[in-house]
Amino acid sequence: MDSLHRAAPVTLSLLFLFAFLSSSSFVSASPEIQILNAERRIDLTSHVIRVYLTLKVENVGKTPAPEILLAFPPTEVDRVALLKAQAAAGKKKKKTTYLPLDVNPKELPDAPNGTKYFAISLISPLGSGETATIEVLYIKTRSLEPFPAEISQSESQLVYYRDTAIILSPYRIKQQVTFVKTPSAKVESFTRVEPTKSAGMELKYGPYEDRPPYSFSPVIVHFENNNAFAVVEELVREIEVSHWGNLQVTEHYKVVHAGARHKGVFSRVEYQSRPSLSGVSSFKHLLLRLPPKVHSVYYRDNIGNISSSHLRTDLRKSELEIEPRYPLFGGWKSTFVIGYGLPLEDFLFESSDDRRYLNFTFGSPLAEVVVDKLTIKVVLPEGSKDPSAVVPFEVEQHLETKYSYLDVVGRTVVVLEKKNVVPEHNVHFQVYYTFKPIFMLAEPLMLASTFFLFFMACVAYLHIDLSIRK
Ligand SMILES: *[C@@H]1O[C@H](CO)[C@@H](O)[C@H](O)[C@H]1NC(C)=O
Ligand SMILES: *[C@@H]1O[C@H](CO)[C@@H](O)[C@H](O)[C@H]1NC(C)=O
Ligand SMILES: *[C@@H]1O[C@H](CO)[C@@H](O)[C@H](O)[C@H]1NC(C)=O
Repeated sequence: MDSLHRAAPVTLSLLFLFAFLSSSSFVSASPEIQILNAERRIDLTSHVIRVYLTLKVENVGKTPAPEILLAFPPTEVDRVALLKAQAAAGKKKKKTTYLPLDVNPKELPDAPNGTKYFAISLISPLGSGETATIEVLYIKTRSLEPFPAEISQSESQLVYYRDTAIILSPYRIKQQVTFVKTPSAKVESFTRVEPTKSAGMELKYGPYEDRPPYSFSPVIVHFENNNAFAVVEELVREIEVSHWGNLQVTEHYKVVHAGARHKGVFSRVEYQSRPSLSGVSSFKHLLLRLPPKVHSVYYRDNIGNISSSHLRTDLRKSELEIEPRYPLFGGWKSTFVIGYGLPLEDFLFESSDDRRYLNFTFGSPLAEVVVDKLTIKVVLPEGSKDPSAVVPFEVEQHLETKYSYLDVVGRTVVVLEKKNVVPEHNVHFQVYYTFKPIFMLAEPLMLASTFFLFFMACVAYLHIDLSIRK
């Protein structure tokens, strides 16, 4: 008994010592990664820049590596609208299958020159001597600088793209190559970092052998890009759920042409007579992708309804092509509203825990645009409780209350806000809430009592009226 009592503190201190030793050894030997092979494809064909990166990584250290870091210069990281990663997980019927990986921003204390990082969490830590193949897609906005900054109606739009020919990385890269795809073969100039090759619409930087961590080599590519630089400065989408069978969507757009500014006067005659040469970087049509079974579509601006829109619908989607009152040149803006109704049963469901939920698409229905600031307001029916939104990426959320005619307590509005939204953000999100069917009666009751009061008022009025005539 006595010896047991004395033995306990000794075991305890031994345990502590062991824990201390193992934790300190873990800190001192952080995982060592090297990249065996890196291939980067930069797609500059639109104004939304997509970069596809394939990395073959190897753990050359002794401890398992739970994550892989991606490095970005501080000026670039704010323009990254989206970053996704997946790992090759073996082959099935000659096709490689992939598993999505978690990606999160990460701060490192001794980052050289303010480098910013994203950490890709591996499904299982990469053991010593093991390799893995990771595919990364990241999307950058506002990364093409028009040069010249101002062009006239007859000129084509040229832009600068800046990057590094050698991939910025905290790891040694044994072999790497970068391909840059431009929208046309008209490339005015590009920085050479030998070996560099240019063929048609593609530039090839590399292969470069064995570059130490944090190597870089700035390059500028100056090329023609007459794509529609359509940016929605602000988009507010209001989705109103009515349990009477309808989903009413109202969208307020503030669109700007974010390309080279238009200089000189605008000639509509020249624009219409030589459409292939005049205003090539301008746009006069906008395409919206809407759900199928859309009805009661309207399109108006502050002057009134605009009739120049075409709606095409089939079983899977609807496409609405709209034409603003004037074509948009660099720096020009257009503000308009689109509204439409949708059948509720396509979007409102019941969850297993007896709650209801709306399943709708995030992002913008406008094709290939960047949205600087997106606000989605989901207006729930009166009497809805405990709303919660499920969005597969980070958004700002808060609740508001909206009153419309016949409302007694007001409707709960779930507000979701996100900056720098790209087409890849057009994914489904859900808003869950509870609802007691008794509230369905609130509106008819209000309506009935309003009519009743009105009726009583009429009776009283007529009664008084008659009494006067007497
Ligand atoms: C940091 O920036 C300086 C000056 O621009 C440059 O000389 C140096 O190589 C950079 N260091 C790293 C690790 O990138
Ligand atoms: C505009 O169109 C909507 C929907 O078609 C219609 O209800 C409204 O009366 C129209 N307004 C004008 C001013 O034409
Ligand atoms: C939402 O709708 C999409 C497309 O119809 C579907 O793939 C997805 O599973 C739905 N999500 C939920 C939670 O019901």
